[in-house]
Amino acid sequence: MTYPLPAPQTPFVLRRLQEADIPHVMTIERQVFPLSWSPGIFRYELRHNRFGYYLAIATTDERLPPLVGYGGIWLYLPEAHISTLAVHPQFQGLHLGAWLLAALLLHAARRGATEATLEVRVSNVGAQRLYTSFGFVVVGRRHRYYSDNGEDAYIMTLAPLELATIRQRFQREVRMVQERWHQRGKRLLAQRSEEPTP
Ligand SMILES: CC(C)(COP(=O)(O)OP(=O)(O)OC[C@H]1O[C@@H](n2cnc3c(N)ncnc32)[C@H](O)[C@@H]1OP(=O)(O)O)[C@@H](O)C(=O)NCCC(=O)NCCS
Repeated sequence: MTYPLPAPQTPFVLRRLQEADIPHVMTIERQVFPLSWSPGIFRYELRHNRFGYYLAIATTDERLPPLVGYGGIWLYLPEAHISTLAVHPQFQGLHLGAWLLAALLLHAARRGATEATLEVRVSNVGAQRLYTSFGFVVVGRRHRYYSDNGEDAYIMTLAPLELATIRQRFQREVRMVQERWHQRGKRLLAQRSEEPTP
């Protein structure tokens, strides 16, 4: 895949996550995860983890935050493990998460991964729906996996991870992002312009 890759007729561009993005990542990270990664973890992942691969969704409209989503995988071939996935709260529901996930899995499949895994909070029904729609199934449970509230994690797996299938899904997700932006973009921009500037 050649990045940056825009979703045509939208302000969204998929590209590699960079160290300079970390402050914007943290703005989202702190809002969406009860146990957020620190800037140092992201720095380590981007600088040193040779198994890691990270993507971001940046924007081209200055009325929007510079970054609205990011995600990563660890490639331990033949397995790809989703290490993180997040979308800015105001931009959820636009299929940006699905676009990111498809892009990560596409990269993994191209590199030869045949199976994808992840952990997700048992209460995180929204994320589970997303994963299920890609074919992930629950294969196990890690007890008291999350230290903030002692919640369990489901282990979910997608196997086999097929290149042709995930390529089609990726193309479909670009179209879904375009469609959702067409439906909701104007309202979102109007809402943002009404917000007081900090
Ligand atoms: C999970 C997350 C990444 C999903 O991103 P998103 O851009 O909001 O989701 P998408 O718009 O791509 O959703 C695609 C599909 O997944 C399912 N889905 C995603 N979020 C959902 C929710 N909250 N409730 C129900 N279904 C949901 C739906 O089937 C949806 O398709 P539809 O809108 O056409 O019905 C995002 O909600 C997020 O950042 N959550 C907080 C962090 C987090 O939980 N990350 C995952 C950790 S394992």
